[in-house]
Amino acid sequence: MDSSLVAVLWYLVPLYLIVCLVCTVFADADMTLLWASVAGKRPEKKLRGLVVWVTGASSGIGEELAYQLAQCGARLILSSRRENELQRVKSHCLQCSNLHNEDILVLPLDLLERQSHEAKTEAAIQYFGHIDVLINNSGRSQRSLFLETSLEVYHALMELNFLGTVSLTKQVLPHMTKQGSGSIVTVSSVMGLVGAPLGTGYAASKHALQGFFNSLRAELTDYPNILISTVCPGPVQSKIVDNAFTEDLNKRVHTVGGQEHKMSTRRCVRLMLVGVVNGVQEMWIAQQPFLLFYYVWQYAPTLGWFLTNKLGRKRVQNFKAGLDADSAYFNKPKAS
Ligand SMILES: NC(=O)c1ccc[n+]([C@@H]2O[C@H](COP(=O)([O-])OP(=O)(O)OC[C@H]3O[C@@H](n4cnc5c(N)ncnc54)[C@H](OP(=O)(O)O)[C@@H]3O)[C@@H](O)[C@H]2O)c1
Repeated sequence: MDSSLVAVLWYLVPLYLIVCLVCTVFADADMTLLWASVAGKRPEKKLRGLVVWVTGASSGIGEELAYQLAQCGARLILSSRRENELQRVKSHCLQCSNLHNEDILVLPLDLLERQSHEAKTEAAIQYFGHIDVLINNSGRSQRSLFLETSLEVYHALMELNFLGTVSLTKQVLPHMTKQGSGSIVTVSSVMGLVGAPLGTGYAASKHALQGFFNSLRAELTDYPNILISTVCPGPVQSKIVDNAFTEDLNKRVHTVGGQEHKMSTRRCVRLMLVGVVNGVQEMWIAQQPFLLFYYVWQYAPTLGWFLTNKLGRKRVQNFKAGLDADSAYFNKPKAS
């Protein structure tokens, strides 16, 4: 090999490794997504005019998705159960973008009512003619210990987070295979990759989504223009804890806790949209030290389990004491 090439490689390879290490330690997204956010296509250019269906658009990540998509010029179908909240989100979309009233369809939908999904999909297609992107975002979390939690809660988590999502995908995907293009983007969670106490059923439902969509992607290799993408956020500011399941179906979360340690919804959604327009198939989005922790789980699982047990013990203790369980990560338990 040419000696000057060897010299260049001698400097470039360590430099590349150092950049990767620094990015891993300080980044708030995985390398592929981070690279796309620096050098990839811009959502503003790629989403204009596309028809995007967002579920769970009445709150949190889904609500912010609606605003950023509207600002990118995407036409929207907004779904969730609470129609009044969807109308509020629509009004704000119209205020913060150049969209017109007819560019946004409010389509109330309960993911649990699977028999309605065919008609809802038909209504969306009839209105816009087609669907370019489905963002499966609706979902609920869990805050309860397995030993105290009724089986109905596990059933409800799987029905909503897993089967509800699969059911809607089953209605929308055939339209995309027919048109030869489209994106199915599913908001999973980092709990779809790792485990943590107080969310056994939630983690199970998100792991199920990961397995389902990873397998579905492999079935669609004859459709290179269909993107199957899963998004795995860490803690993000939203109403997720307020709305979480507890040990009994109708019991609300006792201690909601603060949101200071969580990523801003705006940043999370921006990264998601960058990932979608750049065809990223799995996105890890989290602030540090959470992101680093996911890398440990992936590449050094024994250390990952050790750390999970250490922090998990404290989390369970806080939870049992009626304190903010998440403060286990920050050493300052808070009562709400
Ligand atoms: N925030 C986080 O830290 C975080 C982290 C990782 C993953 N995620 C995932 O992100 C997604 C969005 O959650 P979020 O954080 O934005 O929480 P959120 O503020 O509680 O929003 C949840 C959304 O889901 C909708 N929803 C609940 N039950 C539904 C049903 N039966 N049918 C249709 N829609 C339903 C809610 O609307 P209605 O009440 O109007 O139906 C709401 O719009 C979830 O899949 C969650 O698992 C969140």
